[in-house]
Amino acid sequence: MLKYDFNTYVDSFIDQKELENLMNKKDEVIKKFNKSDMIGWTERVDDSLIKEIKETAQYVKDNFDCLVVIGIGGSFLGSYAFDKMLKRYFEDDHFEVIYAGTTLSSKYLDELLDYLKDKNFCINVISKSGTTMETTITYKLLKDLLKRKYNEQEIVKHIIATTDKEKGKLREEVNEMGYKSFIIPDNIGGRYSFITPAHLLPLALNYDIDEIVHGYYRGKRLDDYAYQYAVIRNLLFKKGKVVENFCVYEENMSYFTEWLKQLFGETEGKEGLGLLPTSTVHTRDLHSLGQFVQEGNKILFETFLKVEKDDHFIDYDGKSLHDINNIVEDSVMRAHYSGGVPCIEIIIDELNEDTIASMIYFFQLAAAYSGYLFGIEPFNQPGVEVYKKEVRESLKNE
Ligand code: PA5
Repeated sequence: MLKYDFNTYVDSFIDQKELENLMNKKDEVIKKFNKSDMIGWTERVDDSLIKEIKETAQYVKDNFDCLVVIGIGGSFLGSYAFDKMLKRYFEDDHFEVIYAGTTLSSKYLDELLDYLKDKNFCINVISKSGTTMETTITYKLLKDLLKRKYNEQEIVKHIIATTDKEKGKLREEVNEMGYKSFIIPDNIGGRYSFITPAHLLPLALNYDIDEIVHGYYRGKRLDDYAYQYAVIRNLLFKKGKVVENFCVYEENMSYFTEWLKQLFGETEGKEGLGLLPTSTVHTRDLHSLGQFVQEGNKILFETFLKVEKDDHFIDYDGKSLHDINNIVEDSVMRAHYSGGVPCIEIIIDELNEDTIASMIYFFQLAAAYSGYLFGIEPFNQPGVEVYKKEVRESLKNE
């Protein structure tokens, strides 16, 4: 499970009266949260859906060499970050899942198409709106590759779509072609969609999704901590600490910090408000951004994500290397605190399906509560829509 230290390296920056005031606002915040029509991610997912996801994963494993997941933002980061955290660095024996759809790089897409040309691959295209440019372009390129290899009837077997239940181009195509499809519910936005088929299907290829679902809902117990975390962040913001730097000590958590950046960035960054989420992977980045954190502009605070236990034991002069990594973490917090940087610590007992899913629920709750504390709507992202529209217009005019 998760443990927290919101005090040791934070207290001196917090006014106790202000803390009490915000803590007392919890009922008000929860009332707003419960009234929202975008909290479908707090509701239990149907057993029949889990069964269908598992069966579809088995179908993919039985019939294809690999699955290409096409999606971006909230339609990709959750499962991608999760997978990164649990798979082996080298020679992993997982069923191959390739994540595409996040780039317009010709080099990447050309090499991907080349890699896939002799593979028997299945596509899982994921887009709630069904209109996102990067997803649409990648999907078309991969479908063109399928068209060069198979007839229409065969192609249908190679495509699984995850999208809105009735709106959007992708749903129209599903209805016309008869692809296997899953729904991203109306009451769940992209960055809160971890508990939907958008993420559970790609994960079901290699992970125990019962454990994931179980761990996710266990995150509900962390409600009080999620609120407390949101409050502390809000108070630090008011003290001019407008940047939250997430620090991890495991390289494989670097995409989890990307997920966090999306979650908090899109949730809070509105109406001229919000904390700017950034991240550093330690100890690597102590040799770059570490200088700024220690002695630079005092605009930030840090949230350290510590992994308490790790079952890869490496003996280093009679000590466990993992323990040394954690001792380094403690020392860095002390050093940064002495340089005027408040440090929050969140401790995960170990990284597995259950704990990661709990952590995801915890952060989603904290982000939503934080949005309400800032007085903004946590579940929309009007800024992202502005760029999407601008791109559509420019491409139309070309
Ligand atoms: O959190 C969000 O809503 C966004 O990041 C979306 O997930 C992202 O823009 C992709 O949108 P869509 O799923 O509609 O393709």
